[in-house]
Amino acid sequence: MRVSIFGTGYVGLVTGTCLAEVGHDVVCIDVDPEKVDGLNRGVMPIFEPGLAPLVEANHAAGRLRFTTDAAEGVAHGEVVFIAVGTPSDEDGSADLQYVLAVAKTIGTHMHRPVLVVDKSTVPVGTAEKVRAAIAETLAARGVDVGFEVVSNPEFLKEGAAVEDCMRPDRIVIGAGSDEAVETMRRLYAPFNRNHDRIVAMDVRSAELTKYAANAMLATKISFMNEIANIAEKVGADVEMVRLGIGSDPRIGWHFIYPGAGYGGSCFPKDVQALSRTAGQHAYEAGLLHAVEAVNERQKSKLFELMSRHYGGAERLAGKTVAVWGLAFKPNTDDMREASSRRLLGQLWDAGASVRAYDPEAGAEARRIFGEREDFLLCSSSDEAVEGADALVVVTEWKQFRSPDFATLAARLADRVVFDGRNLYDPSQVEDAGLAYYGIGRGRSLQQVALDGR
Ligand code: UDX
Repeated sequence: MRVSIFGTGYVGLVTGTCLAEVGHDVVCIDVDPEKVDGLNRGVMPIFEPGLAPLVEANHAAGRLRFTTDAAEGVAHGEVVFIAVGTPSDEDGSADLQYVLAVAKTIGTHMHRPVLVVDKSTVPVGTAEKVRAAIAETLAARGVDVGFEVVSNPEFLKEGAAVEDCMRPDRIVIGAGSDEAVETMRRLYAPFNRNHDRIVAMDVRSAELTKYAANAMLATKISFMNEIANIAEKVGADVEMVRLGIGSDPRIGWHFIYPGAGYGGSCFPKDVQALSRTAGQHAYEAGLLHAVEAVNERQKSKLFELMSRHYGGAERLAGKTVAVWGLAFKPNTDDMREASSRRLLGQLWDAGASVRAYDPEAGAEARRIFGEREDFLLCSSSDEAVEGADALVVVTEWKQFRSPDFATLAARLADRVVFDGRNLYDPSQVEDAGLAYYGIGRGRSLQQVALDGR
């Protein structure tokens, strides 16, 4: 099928590439000429495992093209995706200006019937707004062409986006007609083998499904962070509690890892947008507010532990802190809403300097923080701990999982490790002569008591 995709961000680029990979003829349109140029030369705007070779192969095969030409884009597709960003407004609701701008562009260039697909994460009711914007533009041109707008939310995880796209666990389609569902079924047929993964529903339910999925996952994380904080207070180890509850299939093993808070481009934004939507309909989403509040507090958790260890934030002045991990999670260079940003800001405010290492997010960190005296970007985890007083682990990259603790003990002047993702066995760290702090590990309380601090 002929497919056009507006927006070559995470969602648009991955979706377009995977659709091309299964044989569709895909044109991706973006307003950024540099990005389009780069893509046509095989330069990826994002780091995503497995994406570059797929883009290259499909581009070479002629099934995947990139252009800034919106007219060409609209003319090409029988199915036209909207996959542009929906950043947060000042008040936390989703900003629809880019989505609606694409809608107008489609209305401006449309000459024959198309199926318009909302792929961006958009509040309930947006498909209707998109439909109205296209209809208005068509009317202004005096043109009468048939079209329908369907909702088809994405469930891609950064770092596993290609895999998620090629092997989706469900394909949610919100449509107002059987024909639209049929077209979407044909489009997704190559991803829908063995058993039917398509969940067809009305447009509004599909729009809400996306928010419900992300809000549920964010709730699980904040819940575990809350339990972790209670565990710390009462002298229990949340890692034991996690093992104790995960085996109940109603609870499950996934997404119950406590840590330094959730970040990324989805959870913070979507939880906020959903509670805004509820508010606009005169419903106070108390649970969602709590999920956000717990996460906000959790992002300061590492700094709080450090201040406690040193006997006050002011005692961090002049310290050199090694930071492992800057990205909001492993296997990405994305630092949007990353907990590391809060931590670095707090360390700098306290007068500490940072030696940071992240396998992928170094360039992004430099872009965000610029050159500063108290910020050294290192090219390995070993280099980061050289001459450092303490180590903080913020992102659970695989390569941080089993360091040589004896070497760390020899390198870190203050002999202390703050483990923001509970990667380590506390006693193993302590046996090497290091103080250990994790998230919700009552042992760290005992350690404080032992140290007499
Ligand atoms: C998420 C959803 O998983 C995906 O389905 C949706 O389409 C987009 O949003 P993503 O933002 O890429 O994907 O990251 P995800 O792997 O879900 O992690 C989000 C954040 O939660 C990370 O900061 C991660 O460190 C944190 N997290 C995750 C925890 O703190 N504990 C957990 O148990 C799981």
